[in-house]
Amino acid sequence: MSDIKTIGVLTSGGDAPGMNAAIRAVVRAGLNNGLKVKGIHKGYLGLIEEEITDMDTMSVSDIVHRGGTILNSSRCKEMMTPEGQKLAADNARKAGIDGIVVIGGDGSFKGAQRLSENGINTIALPGTIDLDIACTEYTIGFDTAVNTAMEAIDKIRDTSASHERCSIIEVMGRTAGHIALWCGIASGADYVLIPERYDGDESKIIDKILSRRAVGKMHHIVINAEGCGDSDGIAKRIEAATGIETRATVIGHMQRGGNPTCHDRVYASAFGAKAVDLLIEGKTNRVVAYKDGEFIDYDIDEALAMKKDIDELLYDLVRRLSR
Ligand code: F6P
Repeated sequence: MSDIKTIGVLTSGGDAPGMNAAIRAVVRAGLNNGLKVKGIHKGYLGLIEEEITDMDTMSVSDIVHRGGTILNSSRCKEMMTPEGQKLAADNARKAGIDGIVVIGGDGSFKGAQRLSENGINTIALPGTIDLDIACTEYTIGFDTAVNTAMEAIDKIRDTSASHERCSIIEVMGRTAGHIALWCGIASGADYVLIPERYDGDESKIIDKILSRRAVGKMHHIVINAEGCGDSDGIAKRIEAATGIETRATVIGHMQRGGNPTCHDRVYASAFGAKAVDLLIEGKTNRVVAYKDGEFIDYDIDEALAMKKDIDELLYDLVRRLSR
């Protein structure tokens, strides 16, 4: 057990639905354990610029269901420099904070490592819609994002069917194809392009569309992960090669917003409470993960060294079900 008395919580990088549920869990679990809790605003920038406020139980009332993050978020360049990292840790000490929960993606984990090296106990929670963190099967926001994207794709499918068109639909994911893959299966896509597997050979997409037409399918959905890019170009070339009217839609930032799903609210809450338990145990430089049905934790260095590949079973499923 540690002698931690005051903890801080911040959200960093791209926001993700469920971050508020995690913040609420950190604050309430902290208060219930007799700790003081402070909210650090705008991610690491709030540590550097000392935007830190006290939080009580009512600060997190009415937020479990809300998208975005009440603490705001940023991608903070200063936190990438040794001077910024030291200032952030010094300002945390100045505010009386001896443990911090960082909610964000793997870029944010690097800031957490630096805080830990600078003497502030730090626990990271995977918060990203991209699901691109190797140590965990769950990241805060992915479930909501894929459901949002799926609903958007369903709507595009209606108009695509009416006009007997082909639709190229670009989903987020940075350099990872998890959102595309899940949406591809859930939307019954004819073809899914993911950066982990795409070799740039558009003739395979064209052949697939033509073979689907030949068996009577009169509209087509191609899901393109943003890591493969160029949805407009792909649409133009498919139209030219097939003669089928083709439109590209980039779903974009709507995938990052909206009320979190039940799954995101519950798992994000469990992540938040676990982070507080770890701080109370005196742990630092750890990341909370969900693996094989359990909430566990890893050393951040170990977690960042892990590599994540696409789920081969799901990739195979897309191909088997779109014949
Ligand atoms: O990491 C989440 C994410 O939404 C990615 O899917 C996307 O590539 C990126 O963030 C967009 O970032 P920004 O909102 O800064 O443009």
